[in-house]
Amino acid sequence: MADPKPLVVNLEPGKHAICCCGQTANAPFCDGSHGGTEFRPEIVDVKDVAMNIAWCTCKTSGNSPRCDGSHRKFWDNPEKPPMQPEKD
Ligand code: FES
Repeated sequence: MADPKPLVVNLEPGKHAICCCGQTANAPFCDGSHGGTEFRPEIVDVKDVAMNIAWCTCKTSGNSPRCDGSHRKFWDNPEKPPMQPEKD
């Protein structure tokens, strides 16, 4: 199963190509792996101030490639995020 949490990335001002095919090796950015498919990247034009984008990794978002919270259905308790392993 895909990771049931979105990948949140801070985007600096400028244009960014966000992967919509799920084949990129540079998530969430397009790396051209969509070639030969009907998929095209979503171009996000960030004006003046940096912004965060939550990229869907569970493949069930109704607003793909962006997270719409659908991943919560994979959690035991949708009101709380799943436990995270402690870092060293
Ligand atoms: S690699 Fe996925 S849309 Fe380009």
